[in-house]
Amino acid sequence: MARYLITSAIPYINGIKHLGNLVGSQLPADLIARYMRGRGHEVLFLCATDEHGTPAELAAAKAGKPVEEFCAEMHAVQAEIAKGFRLSFDHFGRSSSLQNRNLTQHFAGQLADNGYITEVAEKQVYSNADGRFLPDRYIEGTCPNCGYDKARGDQCENCTKQLDPTDLIEPRSAISGSTDLEVRETKHLYLRQSALKGELSAWIDSKTDWPILTTSIAKKWLNDGDGLQDRGITRDLHWGVPVKKGTEDWPGMEGKVFYVWFDAPIEYIACAAEWADANGKTDADWERWWRTDKGADDVTYLQFMGKDNVPFHTLSFPATIMGSGEPWKLVDYIKSFNYLNYDGGQFSTSQGRGIFMDQALSILPSDYWRWWLLSHAPESSDSEFTWENFQGSVNKDLADVLGNLVSRVTKFCRAKFGETVPQGGPTGEALIAELTTRLRAYEQHMQAMEVRKAATELRAIWVAGNEYLQSAAPWTVIKTDEEAAKGMVRLALNLIRFYAVISRPFIPDAAQTMMDAMQCDDWTWPDDVATALDTLKPGHAFTVPEVLFTKIADEQRAEWQARFAGIRA
Ligand code: MF3
Ligand code: ZN
Repeated sequence: MARYLITSAIPYINGIKHLGNLVGSQLPADLIARYMRGRGHEVLFLCATDEHGTPAELAAAKAGKPVEEFCAEMHAVQAEIAKGFRLSFDHFGRSSSLQNRNLTQHFAGQLADNGYITEVAEKQVYSNADGRFLPDRYIEGTCPNCGYDKARGDQCENCTKQLDPTDLIEPRSAISGSTDLEVRETKHLYLRQSALKGELSAWIDSKTDWPILTTSIAKKWLNDGDGLQDRGITRDLHWGVPVKKGTEDWPGMEGKVFYVWFDAPIEYIACAAEWADANGKTDADWERWWRTDKGADDVTYLQFMGKDNVPFHTLSFPATIMGSGEPWKLVDYIKSFNYLNYDGGQFSTSQGRGIFMDQALSILPSDYWRWWLLSHAPESSDSEFTWENFQGSVNKDLADVLGNLVSRVTKFCRAKFGETVPQGGPTGEALIAELTTRLRAYEQHMQAMEVRKAATELRAIWVAGNEYLQSAAPWTVIKTDEEAAKGMVRLALNLIRFYAVISRPFIPDAAQTMMDAMQCDDWTWPDDVATALDTLKPGHAFTVPEVLFTKIADEQRAEWQARFAGIRA
């Protein structure tokens, strides 16, 4: 038995995520967590909300709520939706937790003691009307590059140019609209990532098994001209982790907080501490996942994220860990994803374009979405959601292949032999041989986290069962050889349980329905297919389940297509 620590990029607190976000991090992480548990491994699967930074403050202001209250509410909303999608986190934490505050301040103290932090005097825009500095998105103005008049202090949305607040022409406060602004000098802390370049480079080079998408982005940032710049890790904001050196005050840093991208990845660690605290466990219980001096040296740590998050996970967060000089666990494998597009364009949170997680669940159960998203995961390139493609997958893979097999077998058996597994001779050698080959391939793809390939193999395993049934044709054979027909039905009923076990990481609810119908709760992984298909013995009672998957009719599809064509209010 091995041990897997699994984290998904932690979603920003300000708003409900769309399906593109889901398939790029939380959903594949859940798939692998479920698979590893299914194989009998010990898993700690963590996620949280990313609560600090200007987007959270601005969203709270827009909602007319204090930021703490806004975050608490949105955390509950996201937790509920995660449950709806059956994301099996061991803990869904919050980056605003006390545990994260302590750890973030601790890391900053370690980095300072080890000489990796410098203080830099910077020029920043100060608003007299608001009585505060205006970092990042708190300032708007005209883009010096393209002339767009609503460019933000950190970036122009129109031409995507990265900006500094002081670059903006005719700047104004995003809070009050005031133009009574001045440039003042203020001190900030910088993380000297450049001093760790050699160590980071060697570490990335040693990861020869990582996906190209991950290493190519990491290497680009490491080696391209302004790649590994030292990075400002403090901000003049109220909402965030107060700047401290461990538990001590940091002279000159009063009233400042750490930058959100400094504390967010540390939440991966803090979340384990939150998990321990929430479950009456000790520090040793979470440290055995995170500290190599306390038992974590045999842990395999897997991270899941969209490609835009890769630089922070391959460079900045590892720099924080390496620079601490303490034996924290470094990630072993980073699985990153391209983007999912929506019906000829992009999913967009700011524009409300696409399907959002709550909307998806309001029209169909989570398994339908899980299956489509995972079997079309944007691994080697961007992929696209279209309603036709979604309808096709659901109707073919789920309803025609898997659902049909389950209902046909159970109904036929009930009609001819009653609701118990019949006594019949052994059969199906060719099927067992094919399933064995395919199952081993499926396991390899899952182990390698090749999500689409795993889905393709799983579908082929379902198809093999259907084809077996089609050609064995117990409904014909029964007329001449009842004993043989019984053997086929017995095998097919066992196939339902077998499918429940191996399909569970993709479609956990349907798997549960199939297992319940077989009146069984033996989820043992089928190491040997022949043995697995002999689990339900003659005389074992079963029931005919409700329809597993309902087909999507053309009119229904057209209606959804129209409903989700526009922009979410
Ligand atoms: N909130 C970020 C996003 O949605 C991800 C943060 S991941 C972490 O893009 F490493 F910072 F935790
Ligand atoms: Zn611009």
